[in-house]
Amino acid sequence: MKELMIGDKKVIIRPITADDAAAMIDYMNVIGGESDFLTFGPGELNITLEVERNIIKGFLEKNNALFIVAVADGKIIGALSFSGGGRKRLAHTGEFGVSVLKEYWGKGIGQELIKYLIDWAKETKIIRKINLRTRSDNERAVRLYKKLGFEEEGLIRRDFMIDGKFYDSLMMGMLID
Ligand SMILES: CC(C)(COP(=O)(O)OP(=O)(O)OC[C@H]1O[C@@H](n2cnc3c(N)ncnc32)[C@H](O)[C@@H]1OP(=O)(O)O)[C@@H](O)C(=O)NCCC(=O)NCCS
Repeated sequence: MKELMIGDKKVIIRPITADDAAAMIDYMNVIGGESDFLTFGPGELNITLEVERNIIKGFLEKNNALFIVAVADGKIIGALSFSGGGRKRLAHTGEFGVSVLKEYWGKGIGQELIKYLIDWAKETKIIRKINLRTRSDNERAVRLYKKLGFEEEGLIRRDFMIDGKFYDSLMMGMLID
């Protein structure tokens, strides 16, 4: 667990629990409508409470996965999930996704979530590589990832199609040694 002050607000970063399932669904429904840089849009996620609880439990059961939330005033305001491979040859590597509620953008919460992931990855001794992919025009995210030490590894063309328009994704990665 990690505690930070954002202005006069206390923000806690902690692993998610199955009891956060309902709050997580509400959170995802909000962020889907706040950014076109995510893999889902507004109203697209029809996840039931049971499915979400099982998704969370799936993360908690794996020793090479992490699912954390940033919480302020008892509400989820940010989240990060990372999942390592299920096979032995791929168990050391995985991809993460991160998001923050729009009203909290630019306050360092995304950065703190990713630093938590990097610290955790180093401690596991299992994870040796962190990957991410982001729309290549997501300047805010790319700048943040570079600042934290992620390097560009390649471009995936036409990775997104939103309202008939294609967008490329940038693959970025960090070696954990
Ligand atoms: C990307 C995202 C997670 C970043 O979280 P955040 O809490 O806003 O980021 P932080 O406040 O920790 O970091 C901000 C950093 O982004 C960059 N940044 C901030 N404002 C920026 C802007 N207007 N333009 C470009 N870069 C900017 C800077 O590197 C800044 O670092 P600084 O502290 O040195 O100024 C968040 O904006 C978000 O959820 N966006 C929508 C979903 C998304 O794009 N997710 C990532 C998909 S791969």
